[in-house]
Amino acid sequence: MSASVELLKSEPAATAFTAETLPGWTYQNTEFFALERENLFLRNWQIVCHVSEVREPGEFATIEVTGERAFVIRDAEGTLRAFYNVCRHRAAAVVDGANGHCDGAIRCPYHGWTYALDGRLKAVPGEASFPDLDKARFGLHSLDLEVFLGFVFIRFRSGGPSVAERMAPFHAELAPYRFEEMEPVGPPFRIEPGVDWKNVMDNYLEGYHVPVGHPGLYRLFGTRYDVETRPGNVSRAIHWLRDKPSNNWSERHYQMLLPEIEHLPAERRRAWSYYVMLPNIAFDVYPDQMDFFRLLPTAPGKSVMVGRSYRLPGADRRLRAAQFLNHRINVQVQREDDALIRSVQGGLASESYVSGLLSEKEICLRQLHDMIRTALPVARLPRPPAPGMMKTLNDSLRKV
Ligand code: FES
Repeated sequence: MSASVELLKSEPAATAFTAETLPGWTYQNTEFFALERENLFLRNWQIVCHVSEVREPGEFATIEVTGERAFVIRDAEGTLRAFYNVCRHRAAAVVDGANGHCDGAIRCPYHGWTYALDGRLKAVPGEASFPDLDKARFGLHSLDLEVFLGFVFIRFRSGGPSVAERMAPFHAELAPYRFEEMEPVGPPFRIEPGVDWKNVMDNYLEGYHVPVGHPGLYRLFGTRYDVETRPGNVSRAIHWLRDKPSNNWSERHYQMLLPEIEHLPAERRRAWSYYVMLPNIAFDVYPDQMDFFRLLPTAPGKSVMVGRSYRLPGADRRLRAAQFLNHRINVQVQREDDALIRSVQGGLASESYVSGLLSEKEICLRQLHDMIRTALPVARLPRPPAPGMMKTLNDSLRKV
């Protein structure tokens, strides 16, 4: 038996597999961050934007995933395509900004290499100075792309289930919201919470903290909170507005003004629900609007959340008022969560903390931690491997 397996078996903390959190060291370790990048973020689908943002030929949206740049663009025939945002000449970004439009072709801003909207290299300034250039070999590198319920996803490594296959358990619940017909509200948001991505997801994935951590949500929803995890590492949490009016002005008026959204089933007209495709994609789904976010690590213990809100067009004054109040309530929730996750990040670094315990109310969080322990079995170890040993040890544990 190898030393690594002995280490795994000798630590009691690693035996209570499903009831323990990941150990604190995994939330701030440089070598573990590199494993997460390759095994979680480049291998899984990442949400880029909504189809309404890339409706016309030449319209594009960009994404950056742990140092890899990509973009999606509508080509001249109307097909959506995804490419690395890396020029084949000397690696400049060929498009810039979160969203934009290329007028008929993609022109690199550095030396002007020009690509068709389908990625083929069309023109090279001073082409004669590259005597052996075969333009057919220097198109933009393409990536997998999928559209699911009006949202555009890409991935950097092919293989594994599609988004539709992973989200199939919840497709029937999501379809009535008509995401495909929605339009963005305001620009994309970008939040740098100053903590590890897992800490943010941990907090997002459980409602156990709501009665204490979010007094407003507790006034609105009480303790009725259903959660469901499904195969494919997807989950859904849902809670329903109470009839009892909140004593908070915004919350009470949201309760009063939220109209009957007739295209939704009755049980969804006063429900807030949260859908997750692990490790890092989420949809916040309200009767009056929705948003998505992707949460990505930027460095050990640091992350960025990028997302956008969407609504169906044609809202009347009452619905617009409810949408405004929804936003106001969630701004406060975000403030409360920011303070909580910063507190946790400090504690995760304490020498006193190895790992914690998970209740049955934290089942969606367990799903994330189990997914990470499966992909990266080194995360079962209560203490980090010696410097330089992370990948070797992880590879060896994978074979066990
Ligand atoms: S880097 Fe793009 S044209 Fe030179």
